[in-house]
Amino acid sequence: MNKTSRKVSGRRGQGQLALLLEDAPPSARRVPSRQSPKKNAKPAAVKPTKKSSKKSSKKTAKKTATKTATKTVIPKAGPAPAAASRRRKERKHETAVSLAAQQREISVSEFFTKNRHLLGFDNPAKALLTTIKEAVDNALDACEEAGILPELHIKIRQLAETRFRVSVQDNGPGIVREQIPKVFGKLLYGSKFHRLRQSRGQQGIGISAAGMYGQLTTGKGVRIISRTGPKCPAHEFLVQVDTRKNQPKVLRDEEVEWDSPQGTLVEIELEGTYRKGRRSVDDYLQQTAMANPHATIRYTPPSGTKHDYERQTDELPPEAKEIKPHPHGIELGMLMHMLHETQARNLRGALTADFSRVSPKVADEILAKAHLAANARPKRIASNEAEKLYKAIQAVRILNPPTSCVVPIGEETLTRGLKAQFAADFYAATTRPPAVYRGNPFVIEAGLAYGGALAGDELADLYRFANRVPLLYQQGACAMTKSTLATAWRNYTLQQSRGALPVGPLVILVHIASVWVPFTSESKEAIAPYPEIVKEIRLALQECGRKLGTFLRRRRRVADEEKKRSYIDQFIPHIGESLQSILALSDAQKDRTVKNLQEVLEKSRKL
Ligand SMILES: Nc1ncnc2c1ncn2[C@@H]1O[C@H](COP(=O)(O)OP(=O)(O)OP(=O)(O)O)[C@@H](O)[C@H]1O
Ligand SMILES: [Mg+2]
Repeated sequence: MNKTSRKVSGRRGQGQLALLLEDAPPSARRVPSRQSPKKNAKPAAVKPTKKSSKKSSKKTAKKTATKTATKTVIPKAGPAPAAASRRRKERKHETAVSLAAQQREISVSEFFTKNRHLLGFDNPAKALLTTIKEAVDNALDACEEAGILPELHIKIRQLAETRFRVSVQDNGPGIVREQIPKVFGKLLYGSKFHRLRQSRGQQGIGISAAGMYGQLTTGKGVRIISRTGPKCPAHEFLVQVDTRKNQPKVLRDEEVEWDSPQGTLVEIELEGTYRKGRRSVDDYLQQTAMANPHATIRYTPPSGTKHDYERQTDELPPEAKEIKPHPHGIELGMLMHMLHETQARNLRGALTADFSRVSPKVADEILAKAHLAANARPKRIASNEAEKLYKAIQAVRILNPPTSCVVPIGEETLTRGLKAQFAADFYAATTRPPAVYRGNPFVIEAGLAYGGALAGDELADLYRFANRVPLLYQQGACAMTKSTLATAWRNYTLQQSRGALPVGPLVILVHIASVWVPFTSESKEAIAPYPEIVKEIRLALQECGRKLGTFLRRRRRVADEEKKRSYIDQFIPHIGESLQSILALSDAQKDRTVKNLQEVLEKSRKL
């Protein structure tokens, strides 16, 4: 056995290649020797040429000789194919059996450890932001679900140049002790994935992924303190993710004294970079305060200079109702899964109970179209029958899903938020009526702030939000950006180059509220361009744009009139003097004439 082959079998650990040959039938074992003549077939390829040269005429022989001469190049280059074939022989190829020995389950934590960029941990600055974002999103979700006005304390402490300890504390409902390890130490574990209700989180990955990133970069676990009420004890946990099994590893579990009556504190140590400006933690928190005026956010950055965003309103947003899936929004596989999992005893019951907007009448219509019995057992439905049912569902008219499950920010609150953040001359906001993509209800809102202290000669700033969460990265890949670029801002008297944002002292805000926001990846940074969503964004921007256009045109008209007036104004005294000398007016008459002229000018001003 040569060096290479020894290395290969050594790497396999159990000499699988040798084993393989032993297991194989004798004929299979003979393969290499049978193959060898074939592999050396190239020099033999010259033979027929030699044969033909014997038989052929002189002329043909000449031709053949030329051909042979060309072909004889091959043996000249002979050593190369020989070496290649030797190398090929030496290289041990994988077989189904050797591959089988390597095939094993991949835990979701292992997958995301390798692909952490999918979760928003692709660079140190983004990692710090994502960690805070996941904890803040959860805190706001938990408070709202419990009907509590959120008060958040966010601290970033810098431990070394690239090492930070971040903590996010909320006054929410807390987390029951038994759940804490799984919430923070297991990916794809959460309360929001299986329901159709508007919330910031939806996947069940966020906070455990942040903890896993911290663990990966510092070796430390996530520290959690949680208390579910003033009369309950507070529990402190230190949790890590066992990435091989995607299971929590509890390093500490103690009852502790805690000065907060209720809520959760999450502390993560991680490698990161703190920076200021756009897409920074500061920027994210400022935008979060803008979209969540009911929340108080107390923020201490690494410098220690506290920054408080006091709540602008004491009213919680209306509670988002949970809905069932709409039949037009589900795929065949999902339908089959739902039929298998249903609690209903018959098909008619399953359709009416598990889907929204399916009344008994609609269910009967679907079943008649599918030629299926109403009392058939849902669990017994064969796949071809499920397909018939799926087709029938698509063919029947069903009301759009209820929209009580979507809670937009609202035009008034949006305008208030914009006013609190930007000192502009003009504000506009629009909330579109609810629409549906893939059976999921959604609402698009847009807002504009123009003029005032906003920078004049630059491209407009686009602020994107999904379920009140600012989206800071992947702007170019987002449906919101695409719709904004496709909007004809020139119609509203703004400058715009082709395929670019408009130029001017302008801030554009777009918000999507939905029971399921179609993000382009797990890091929840950009919205997928479903045609219905793109259209609604465009309509919302156009509505705001028209208001801005009216404002700008009126302002321009006023400015023009002012200019004209001041121009005529300059000549009125001279006209007075001329009239005095022509008509021999007294000074008093001249002054009265000048005053009258000025009044006429004032009245004729069209604004
Ligand atoms: N501060 C908190 N207070 C109460 N419950 C919390 C808190 N943080 C997390 N949870 C619970 O832990 C679950 C898991 O949180 P995680 O952030 O991993 O996922 P998610 O919020 O459901 O979805 P996403 O991955 O989109 O963020 C949540 O669904 C929620 O039930
Ligand atoms: Mg979350």
